[in-house]
Amino acid sequence: MIRACIFDLDGVIVDTAKYHYKAWKRLANELGFEFTEEDNERLKGVSRMTSLEILLEIGNKKGEYTEDEKLKLATKKNEWYREYITKMEKDEILPGVEGFLELLRQNGVKIAIGSASKNAKTILERIGLIDKFDAIVDGTKITKAKPDPQVFTKAADEMNEKYEDCVVFEDSQAGIDAALAAGMKAIAVGKPENLKNAHKIISGFKNKDFELLMFD
Ligand code: BG6
Ligand code: MG
Repeated sequence: MIRACIFDLDGVIVDTAKYHYKAWKRLANELGFEFTEEDNERLKGVSRMTSLEILLEIGNKKGEYTEDEKLKLATKKNEWYREYITKMEKDEILPGVEGFLELLRQNGVKIAIGSASKNAKTILERIGLIDKFDAIVDGTKITKAKPDPQVFTKAADEMNEKYEDCVVFEDSQAGIDAALAAGMKAIAVGKPENLKNAHKIISGFKNKDFELLMFD
């Protein structure tokens, strides 16, 4: 029986992918190459430094920077990204999310955040959801990135729930793979062509009822 739900943040609770995209594109342009929305798909669920490596590969600039320079580039991108997210408002919570969280509460299901982002708490504060979760595991608390299951197993441990009693909501393939590796149920949020192997797939949380947590 499902006793807890673990939510990825970026792309599940809020659409921050557009802000990541704007900031990475600005960096790519400054380094002298183009970066498309399609390229941006490859960065979903991926850590900041790995994202930079992928970006440099796209620009054929792999191996051109020292570790120290790469750190500076990632920090610059993050400063631009933070300019966007520190202006976020409550109305940027994706449709149906708040109602679904409330439904889970009413039914005694625990809720957690399992995100790779080191900016997760800033975003949750801005959109007014910081106090809603039983556990928040973000990029500051983990040592292994998705598809490693650590972010989700840590969230389950903090809630004192068994992994098999947890369901993860994810918009990235790395996140779905992480949930499955943890022995949890995975519900993909997005398009079937981008997301494989999840137990269920939804396009969003609008009008979702408790039935969603029933598995055969
Ligand atoms: C994930 C995003 O949630 O967090 C990735 O999907 C992002 O795109 C990663 O790179 C790390 O985020 P941050 O905010 O720590 O740079
Ligand atoms: Mg995501």
